[in-house]
Amino acid sequence: MKIFLDTANIEHISHGVRLGVVAGVTTNPSLVSREGNVDYRKLVQEICSIVPGPVSTEVLGQDVQTMVTEAREIAKWADNIVVKIPATLEGVEATSVLAKENIKVNLTLCFALNQALLGAAAGATFISPFVGRLDDIGEDGMKVVSDIVEYLDYYQLPTQVIAASIRHPQHCLAAARVGAHIATVPYEVLLQLIRHPLTDIGIERFRNDWKRVMAREGLL
Ligand code: E4P
Repeated sequence: MKIFLDTANIEHISHGVRLGVVAGVTTNPSLVSREGNVDYRKLVQEICSIVPGPVSTEVLGQDVQTMVTEAREIAKWADNIVVKIPATLEGVEATSVLAKENIKVNLTLCFALNQALLGAAAGATFISPFVGRLDDIGEDGMKVVSDIVEYLDYYQLPTQVIAASIRHPQHCLAAARVGAHIATVPYEVLLQLIRHPLTDIGIERFRNDWKRVMAREGLL
């Protein structure tokens, strides 16, 4: 499973890319708004220049024509741009138009298999089921990811599943277990994935044991 970062923060993205584990980025208007008063296009282009993979950026229009016009413009910003289109009826139609023009679409705000079914039929490159937000309302977000993966596999469809709205490492592991192609994770979750208290205790113990050897040999 590939790891994408779910952020618009340049520092965090640069760190993730330096680690060599971040294969893409997803942004949304809320994430961009957290970066303060920025030039949206410039920020996205900077992200695209740092990341060696797809960068998803969302349209704000709600009717088909506005979404398509926005998406065509956004698609010119960089070669690795993917346009996020919401999983509405209008979004499905816009996705069909854009897919025929080879513009990559990430069908976002997806909360059910039936939405994914239409997104895949329309030619979306990615579909993003929002796990955390489903869990928040007492539903099983990961079950939706699992159902979509199973459906796409069964019919051998090329659309890839991005497990989104990931809140903690367990979500990330569960996404891998059910076969999501990608998990898009907040920076904090990326850091949490590597942390383990036994690793820290182990390092400390090795260092102390080695210091004792050096002291015994009179080398300290
Ligand atoms: C995905 O592409 C979205 O940006 C994101 O995962 C939304 O997550 P949230 O529910 O934490 O806002």
